[in-house]
This record gives sequence, structure tokens and C-alpha cells, in this order.
Amino acid sequence: MYENLENIADFSDRELKEIMEMPGEEIAFKLATAADRVRRENYGDEVYVRGLIEFTNFCKNNCYYCGIRCGNSHAERYRLTKEQILECCEEGYGLGFRTFVLQGGEDSYFTDEIICDIVSEIHEKYEDCAITLSIGEKTKESYQAYFEAGAQRYLLRHETATEDHYKKLHPSQMSLANRKRCLYDLKEIGYQVGAGFMVESPYQTTEHLVADLRFLQKLEPDMIGIGPFITHGQTSFAKYKSGSLDKTLRMISILRLLFPYALIPATTALGTIHPQGRELGLKAGANVVMPNLSPVSVRKKYDLYENKICTGEEAAQCRGCLEQRVKGAGYRIVTARGDVRRAPHGKANR
Ligand code: 5AD
Ligand code: FES
Repeated sequence: MYENLENIADFSDRELKEIMEMPGEEIAFKLATAADRVRRENYGDEVYVRGLIEFTNFCKNNCYYCGIRCGNSHAERYRLTKEQILECCEEGYGLGFRTFVLQGGEDSYFTDEIICDIVSEIHEKYEDCAITLSIGEKTKESYQAYFEAGAQRYLLRHETATEDHYKKLHPSQMSLANRKRCLYDLKEIGYQVGAGFMVESPYQTTEHLVADLRFLQKLEPDMIGIGPFITHGQTSFAKYKSGSLDKTLRMISILRLLFPYALIPATTALGTIHPQGRELGLKAGANVVMPNLSPVSVRKKYDLYENKICTGEEAAQCRGCLEQRVKGAGYRIVTARGDVRRAPHGKANR
């Protein structure tokens, strides 16, 4: 069965579980080889760049794993002004970025009116750019308003598709049902949607990972962002160990095989647990990188997890750094908007 990993869409839950758990390096190598073949068939050697602007670390939620949760009194909070956000875009545009990702905690200072004002100004100034929002759970009306202002993409990781596990990672005010509602609302409005989860988060079992894959098969998102869980000392999970490189890479490969068309980032978290993490992520099937465009002065404060890379002075130019890394891994950065390439109808989940 493992000789024909490209038929993975027909694997049973038990078979998926087996390839996730199988010890040794051989299976990981086979998965990465098959995933890279599928990725090249669909996207060649192209890697898309998204300029990430982390514009607020205020958050009303208290997710147990996250360093910017409201309960972390040690977090130094910041908000970028509209002018600062526009400066990031200007710098990014000059560096060749054609997608801006505005990411932040769930910060009620940024009302719908303020978000729409920022989005529409970016949209007017940079007509040829895609605007992605990643600002958490909102009402369908809010999502609709942002869409009309010019946002076309939205990232909202589901975090885990299993109710019991979701409850272990989040306080009772948050629910998996609402998270899923948000994702379906976003799709219905017409956004290109990104979902995803952490690998080896506390209490995660292989069954949970299988459930994540099954949920994604139903949702059919355009983007799937995953990265290892990473310990943060000022969270409830300070004593839990970070996720591994091996498991995260296996999951990237499995995702590529199940979702040939998907945009899959080699995430900052993956680069944080291993110096070559992002390069290895690309080789395992990822096709997106998200260099940090936030002002260097705030980068350390967007402190989701420990030892996050790209937060020092030397990281002012993630664009150049990543270009070299992508090249070194055997791929090519393209500056196009990089919209999703959907397979012909019915083939999306081959
Ligand atoms: N380790 C890894 N990823 C984390 N995130 C939040 N906290 C952590 C952590 N400790 C991820 C979540 C969230 C995304 C923005 O960052 O999956 O959706
Ligand atoms: Fe940020 Fe390398 S990508 S410093």
C-alpha cells in the first residue's frame, strides 16, 4: 500500500493513522517524494510569497497555547496605526509582494469600520494586490463587510476538528462549532479560505489528526496552514513539549497528496523548531512562504510561541533571506498574487 502513496485519498482512517505513526525515516522520505511530485505537477517549482503584517497583539481570547492570550499579563501589547500598516504595504510592494496578510489578535479596538477603512485604502492604492485578513472569529455580516471593502482571502485555522480536543485547548467561551460556522460563512461569501491546525499540540492523538484531514476534505479550503505546536512559558501549556519536525513534515506531505491544488505554507513555526525547517517544508510539499513585513520594533511582541524567528534587527529583510532559502531548496519565488489553482470539478480531492 505504501508503494502507491498517490492513492492516499482512498486510504482508510486506519491506513492514514499507520503512515502517520510508522517509525523510521523511510516512510517520511517516501511521503515527501510523492508529495513533491504532485506539487510539481500542479505548481511546478513556484513558491508564492505573502507579506505578513502583524498589526495588533491585543486579544480578547485566552487560548491555552497562545502567547498573546488575554491572560498573559507579561505580554507587551501594541497596535499599529493605519499609517504604519500602509507603510508596511508600501515597503512590501517595493520588495515585490502582491499579497498582504493582515494578522492580529481579536482586538475590539479594530471595529468593522476601522478594518474596512484600512482594507479599502490598501485595495485602492494597490489594485493588483490580494488582501488577506486573519483576525479571528466574527459575524457573517462583518466578514461580508470586509469582503466588500476589498479583502478576498481569510485565514482562520480550525486548530482541531475534534470537539473534546478543542475544549482542552480553549476556554469554555470558545467553541469548535462557532469556528466551523465562521469557515463556512467565509466560503459562502466567496473568500478564498485558509484553515489548518497545530501538529502535536497538547493532548493531540493520531485520531485527532485523521479527523482534521477528514474535516478539511469536507471544507475544501484553498489554503491549509499547519505548523508544530511550540511551548510558550507564559501559557497554561508551559510544561508541554513542542511538536516535532518529523511529524509536521509528514503532515505537510499528506496534505499535499490529499489536496494537490492547495496553497500550503512552510510556516514560521516550522522554521523556529529547526534551522532548515521551512526549506524542508517546501521539499515535503509546501508552496508558500510568509515573510514578516511588520516593523522590526514590534516583531518580538507578536510572541505566539517561544524563540520565534525573524524577530531581530537582522531580520529586517525576510524577503531576501527567504528568496535565498527557497532557491537553496530547489524552488523559485514568484511575485504573482498566486491564486489557488483548482482542479477541474470533482477532482479537487483526488
Ligand atoms: N505554537 C504554535 N503555533 C501557535 N499558534 C498560536 N500559538 C501557538 C503556539 N504556541 C498558531 C495558531 C494560530 C496561529 C496564528 O498561530 O494555530 O491559529
Ligand atoms: Fe525572516 Fe529569514 S525569513 S530572517
